[in-house]
Amino acid sequence: MRHLIDFGDMSRAEWDELYARASRIMDDPSQFIDTCRGKVAASLFYEPSTRTNFSFQTAMLRLGGTVFGFADPNSSSVAKGETLKDTIKMVSSYADVVVMRTPWEGAAKAASLYSHVPVVNAGDGGHMHPTQTMADLTTMTRLLGKVDGLSIGLCGDLKNGRTVHSLIKAMAKFRDVRFFLISPRELAVPEYMRAFLQENGMPYTEVTGLEAVIPQLDVLYMTRIQRERFVDPLEYERNKGIYILTRRKLERAKEHMLVMHPLPRVDEIAVDVDDDPRAVYFRQARYGMFARMALLADLANQPRLERTAPVEIGTRPVCSNPRCITQTQPYLPPLVKQNGGVDCCAFCDAALR
Ligand code: CP
Repeated sequence: MRHLIDFGDMSRAEWDELYARASRIMDDPSQFIDTCRGKVAASLFYEPSTRTNFSFQTAMLRLGGTVFGFADPNSSSVAKGETLKDTIKMVSSYADVVVMRTPWEGAAKAASLYSHVPVVNAGDGGHMHPTQTMADLTTMTRLLGKVDGLSIGLCGDLKNGRTVHSLIKAMAKFRDVRFFLISPRELAVPEYMRAFLQENGMPYTEVTGLEAVIPQLDVLYMTRIQRERFVDPLEYERNKGIYILTRRKLERAKEHMLVMHPLPRVDEIAVDVDDDPRAVYFRQARYGMFARMALLADLANQPRLERTAPVEIGTRPVCSNPRCITQTQPYLPPLVKQNGGVDCCAFCDAALR
């Protein structure tokens, strides 16, 4: 694996190897304190973050490496109009691995075209968040002993929730996973995700109510309504507060069901649920740090590419998604891929019209 842009880039064997390494780190972190000695990670956060930013930073420090970067792009030459391409060319001249979060969908993929070192997608708009998925899979495997065969309820903003999209992508690598997609109709999963589920023969049921399906679940994955992604503020007002998990609703859940959440939480899990033994979202965030250590141990030690492959200059953005990276970086090549037989933007996955 050269970059981690989308969990779909990782094979099941690569994930199993990564999880095994994360387990060894959790069991005996002292064995790994020099794994990245002398290595440097660039941490480029164009969007706010608590868990992803700090867990990547602490992951690198715990491996003996160091970190530089920004949590506010306005403190860099981005504020003077520097393109993503030029920022990445520079940063990848200084670092051994680049970790980046942006509001633009497909930005990590775009960065990977120009980077001399591995790029990690730490969240690109409402599109993907593969290292959150590593935290999620680690949590399920450590606490339930398996991922195969689970019934998983994904609840909340499934349209804009990048953690949900990445988790669905990952589950294609496991057997007999069944999804309950719980959302209001206007916040249902995007069409490219539905096509992915169908193309991979993954059983799923779309419902609007949480309470009716809770008794069937092994994992309830709650998500926040993503206010910052709404183009129409009225749509947010209609949907905020629509799902709130309470202790009373949990009474009907299985005894072993995990309540997971990528966090941050707003109001979708009542605070008194935190003390229920099934509520594992804070542990999930800690597992994420170990999973990121396992990833950095591999990527930061990869050989640097002195020359990146030539990239065709784009003449026009082919994608009409207003949140796609091609809208703000017009030099990008008009790359196309197929999802479920439909031509889609290779950066953000939106169907091309
Ligand atoms: N789960 C997650 O991505 O949290 P942050 O936005 O705080 O990084």
